[in-house]
Amino acid sequence: MSLVGKKIGAYAVTGEIGAGGMAVVYKAEQPNLDRKVAVKELRGDLSKDPALLQRFEREAKYVAALAHQNIVHIYDFIERAHAMYIVMEYVEGVDLYSLMAQVKRVPPDVAGIIALQAARALEYAHYRGVVHRDFKPSNLMITRHGDIKLMDFGIARDASGDDLTRPGTALGTPSYMSPEQILGERVDFRSDIFSFGIVLYQMLTGQKPFNDDDTRSVMNAILHVKHPRPRSIYPDIPFALQRIIKRCLAKRPSDRYARTEQLRHDLEAYVAETCPVNHNGRMVLYLRHCNLISEEAARSYLNEKELKNTQLTARDRGEVDAGVTVFNPVMQMNSLLFLCMLSWAAWVAWCDYSQHADFFGATPSPAAAAVQVAADVHPEPRTETHAEPRVDAPPPRPELRPENRPEPAHNPVKTPSLVRQRRP
Ligand SMILES: Nc1ncnc2c1ncn2[C@@H]1O[C@H](COP(=O)(O)OP(=O)(O)OP(=O)(O)O)[C@@H](O)[C@H]1O
Ligand SMILES: [Mg+2]
Repeated sequence: MSLVGKKIGAYAVTGEIGAGGMAVVYKAEQPNLDRKVAVKELRGDLSKDPALLQRFEREAKYVAALAHQNIVHIYDFIERAHAMYIVMEYVEGVDLYSLMAQVKRVPPDVAGIIALQAARALEYAHYRGVVHRDFKPSNLMITRHGDIKLMDFGIARDASGDDLTRPGTALGTPSYMSPEQILGERVDFRSDIFSFGIVLYQMLTGQKPFNDDDTRSVMNAILHVKHPRPRSIYPDIPFALQRIIKRCLAKRPSDRYARTEQLRHDLEAYVAETCPVNHNGRMVLYLRHCNLISEEAARSYLNEKELKNTQLTARDRGEVDAGVTVFNPVMQMNSLLFLCMLSWAAWVAWCDYSQHADFFGATPSPAAAAVQVAADVHPEPRTETHAEPRVDAPPPRPELRPENRPEPAHNPVKTPSLVRQRRP
């Protein structure tokens, strides 16, 4: 039964905001403080379950103890016969699930800002010993001013507390569960880091890292299948974000970030490098692009120059990213080919040069020049190494020809051979 028009404690319910698996969320007024609030009512059928009522109450207590700008504030907790209400800060904006349903994927710099603020919320909760255990897009709200608010610590527990689990009820949402959550093992903050990695992956690629056909196959994929690299889907996804995802999505908790602070730190480094305007300004620009806030609302936050930042508006339209997606691999291939051709040409030129150095007329080195001068003064007889072998008889040696023979001097001594010839 709808609560619209009714009063819950001091709160006048004015409308319904949305409904999830366990609760219905209403918008309400708190007249004495003149502010809007959100009232979350546990579903009628579930509110008869004492274990769930206890879990709902626990959520309120945990979150009420957390005071952080990126976590939805809890104002009140009201218990009635078989009904429970959590009164909390009303967040004017959109949840990440609805945003992602509108766009193909979130630009990397915007995804980095959302992830950074969510990581700050987790870091704070983890520092206080609270594990969220249901980190997913519908539990992240984006305000009209570009702030991110984490909510629904519905199945949260502190580091020492016992799980409040209804028998047969899976903790968490299957697509966002960590391997240890699926196996029903004890979970710690690293389970949230795994879920965080899934959400970041989904923002950047527009798809979840693990097969999503049915609960069983998704759980099997989370346990055993390696996720496709984000850059294999969109090559323009920055390496820095891909590395962060890889560390978050390690199957073994010990291979993930050892502290949420490190995760936040890595995101901070990435965002600092890529975001030219202030973070909220960038978010507002993107929300305007998605028609989630009006032009006037955007103008109240950004100046004319920021609103007309052509680089960012093109990025929001996906123009730059699409271009990079197509041309990046081609450019990389081209550079590789160019380098290969360049080294081949250099090698060929060197071989040619060493064989025909004189043809190229290269300037010789001083030593080579000295040798050349010596060669010019005393030229070596040219030897034809490739000449055909001669078949004709060599010409008679000039000194043996009769006309060249010198006149013999008078010599009375006969040569022994002549003496022998005259023998009878
Ligand atoms: N404090 C709030 N201010 C504004 N809107 C809210 C607030 N809390 C919840 N909502 C909206 O109400 C919707 C329903 O929230 P709810 O937590 O009941 O379900 P869910 O997160 O979508 O699913 P699940 O039950 O699996 O957690 C949210 O998606 C969000 O859009
Ligand atoms: Mg929720």
